[in-house]
Amino acid sequence: MDYVLQNSLREHPALKKLRKRTLQDERYLMMVACEQAQLMANLAKLIKAKNVIEIGVYTGYNTLNMALAIPDDGKIIACDINLEFAKIGMPFWKEAGVEHKIDLQIKPAAETLDELLEAGKAESFDFAFIDADKLNYGVYYEKCLQLIRKGGIIAVDNVLWGGSVLNPGNDPDTLSIVKLNEKIYRDSRVNMNMLTIGDGVTLVFKL
Ligand SMILES: C[S@@+](CC[C@H](N)C(=O)[O-])C[C@H]1O[C@@H](n2cnc3c(N)ncnc32)[C@H](O)[C@@H]1O
Repeated sequence: MDYVLQNSLREHPALKKLRKRTLQDERYLMMVACEQAQLMANLAKLIKAKNVIEIGVYTGYNTLNMALAIPDDGKIIACDINLEFAKIGMPFWKEAGVEHKIDLQIKPAAETLDELLEAGKAESFDFAFIDADKLNYGVYYEKCLQLIRKGGIIAVDNVLWGGSVLNPGNDPDTLSIVKLNEKIYRDSRVNMNMLTIGDGVTLVFKL
């Protein structure tokens, strides 16, 4: 893994500083894997993404990563319920000169997604990253599928959940992830890949 990072990670200086700052936080394990973030940024650039939804911001490592990947007039709807986490990242968003692209919405993500749908924004987003509370994963997936345009991408994080998807028992979070994994596998509305990068990420390509 060290070799991979030393020979492939290309981090903007502010992004690197935010990752180092986040590692000082006791909940740092919530941060997305940096090599996964780089893959998502490259995919966003490939499809010329302009409008992005981030569900689960934490300190905003991936929010900044995506803000750096979209054009100057692009927008990220960044959803979280915890402003204190996001405040850790804000100075780094500013340092990178991309904070004007980030629209932070502090409320349950499902509410923000409903507001976007009510505002007629269906099929107007290019990329969505689902990485918040696991119990709502199925809800986020369906709403994102409406909000993403054809040819757009939804990335679903933690699809391996530390390996516990193999033996979910009665854990509600794990059962929710397993249910969505099985649903996406059978979903004829999309093409998909499940990758073993990070804690597992499923890439969903809307048909
Ligand atoms: C795994 S972290 C997100 C990590 C982030 N994507 C990154 O790049 O490092 C999950 C986040 O989801 C947020 N969250 C939990 N429940 C939520 C909800 N109902 N709506 C929006 N955000 C929520 C938490 O506050 C936390 O910051």
